[in-house]
Amino acid sequence: MTEHDIKQHLRTKTFGKNIFCFDSIDSTNTYAKKLLSQDIEEGTLVIAEEQSAGRGRFDRTWHSSSGKNLTFSVIIRPNIIPQRIGILSLYAGLAVTEAVQELSHISPTCKWPNDVLLNGKKLCGILSEAVFSDAQISAVIIGIGLNVNQTEFPDTLASTATSMVLECNKMFDRFHVLAKVLEKLEHLYAFIQTHHLEDILQRWQSHSIMLGKEVTISQQGQLVKGIAKAIDTDGGLIISVNGTEKKVAAGDVTILQ
Ligand code: BTN
Repeated sequence: MTEHDIKQHLRTKTFGKNIFCFDSIDSTNTYAKKLLSQDIEEGTLVIAEEQSAGRGRFDRTWHSSSGKNLTFSVIIRPNIIPQRIGILSLYAGLAVTEAVQELSHISPTCKWPNDVLLNGKKLCGILSEAVFSDAQISAVIIGIGLNVNQTEFPDTLASTATSMVLECNKMFDRFHVLAKVLEKLEHLYAFIQTHHLEDILQRWQSHSIMLGKEVTISQQGQLVKGIAKAIDTDGGLIISVNGTEKKVAAGDVTILQ
């Protein structure tokens, strides 16, 4: 994968204009964070064929077979208040969902806060990391791990992870998939920058299967059980626990019914 190959497929204006492309790196998110010490352009893409220390949420490891999938990070400078930061995970998940739907003609679902599932298994994980300056968001790194052409997963993931090839029975051109995801990220970003967050929320909810269902949310070992009611304007999940509504800002969700 080279910068030249990637650029040939891109139809975006700013997302992917500036590219750092690696055969192997520790983590594209970690590299992108280091870039922020320079005056780096919004939309900068950091992409690698292989990550030796790919990171997931809650300090988990992100496994991805070398050269089969997409592991990349994009730097944005969103014009939103810190309380709304949760929207950014929904935004990135929505962009991937819409891209995969257009390319594969099967419909992924969005799982709060930022997973994309195909037939109930995890297709994509997103790790968004913010950097603050004077209590304002100065930049956010959106890290995306999208399983494209991987056909075998380690035993520990085999029952929960999937890829586009496994669900669609055909290989996908990764450049084409990357270009489509960046196109969606750029398109939806305009809604964030113009404060039309409700458009992101509505579109995200139209791809979600969890609202109205019984869920458990694990937060640092603590389990909360309730009915998923809605996503609020900050991107938080509202659940009803024994008739009382509670807002959850982060956690791992399991859908029970
Ligand atoms: C999760 O599901 O817990 C999030 C996984 C995010 C993985 C991506 S791969 C590209 C970017 N670089 C990283 O180290 N992590 C993200």
